[in-house]
Amino acid sequence: MKTAIITGGGQGIGRVTTQYLLTHGYRVAIWEADTDALTELRESFKASAAQILFVSCDVSSEVNVRKAVEQTMAHFGQIDALINNAAIMIEKSLDKFMLDEWNRVISTNLTGPFLCAKHTAPYLAMQKGCIINICSTRAFQSEPDTFAYSASKGGLLALTHSLAVSLGPDVRVNAISPGWIDVSALKKKAKAKSDELRPEDHSQHPAGRVGQADDIARMILFLIAPENSFITGQNFVVDGGMTRKMIYV
Ligand SMILES: NC(=O)c1ccc[n+]([C@@H]2O[C@H](COP(=O)([O-])OP(=O)(O)OC[C@H]3O[C@@H](n4cnc5c(N)ncnc54)[C@H](O)[C@@H]3O)[C@@H](O)[C@H]2O)c1
Repeated sequence: MKTAIITGGGQGIGRVTTQYLLTHGYRVAIWEADTDALTELRESFKASAAQILFVSCDVSSEVNVRKAVEQTMAHFGQIDALINNAAIMIEKSLDKFMLDEWNRVISTNLTGPFLCAKHTAPYLAMQKGCIINICSTRAFQSEPDTFAYSASKGGLLALTHSLAVSLGPDVRVNAISPGWIDVSALKKKAKAKSDELRPEDHSQHPAGRVGQADDIARMILFLIAPENSFITGQNFVVDGGMTRKMIYV
């Protein structure tokens, strides 16, 4: 049985992806920094306990990442896929954006995937495995005041092709850039709420709707499938067509 690691699997896209991976016969190691989310997840995935490993891990800490690799290898004995999904976003005007906030976002969203790739690569290579980096359409376009997040995702795209060229042919590395994915109801209990989406939220998308976590989970399943072994170093935009629209006023 193949083993996938998903970082930030406790909430949002990562949580739904975990369910997809389990349903499709993967064993899943969830590396998550939010311990409340991890506890809730343990409860809701009780029935699949044999297939899951819950690891408390801050991906920006090399000590944590090393330990998480050791735990995952000790438990499952192999690593076939790494999904770098954990990320944070801070939205603030430039004058109020503090250096420690910049560093926190870059450490989680860019250094984290680097550390996870570095320490899983030898095991991924043994399995002819793959890495998927969850980027964002914000790597290409911006709303105001998202400096560190946009920069981190731009960096993650470049890290994707750099890793693909360096780790091939043993490890494939691809990126997925989601657009607007409504994860409001997929948070831990203390934060979950169902956002009321307006008709125009949906209709502005060429695809006619805001995205769902399932849209990204299905693309992850496609990319980790071993038969898609000719795809590496690429970025796949899953945004309902929003980045293809010209929006001059
Ligand atoms: N939701 C969207 O509209 C959207 C759009 C574009 C890209 N993305 C990307 O998709 C991915 C998932 O986003 P989401 O909306 O599901 O987010 P989310 O906030 O719902 O989930 C992210 C998870 O990562 C965890 N996390 C944060 N910092 C961590 C750390 N240092 N170590 C380990 N875990 C950590 C959080 O606790 C959380 O469980 C992210 O990479 C995000 O940038 C999301």
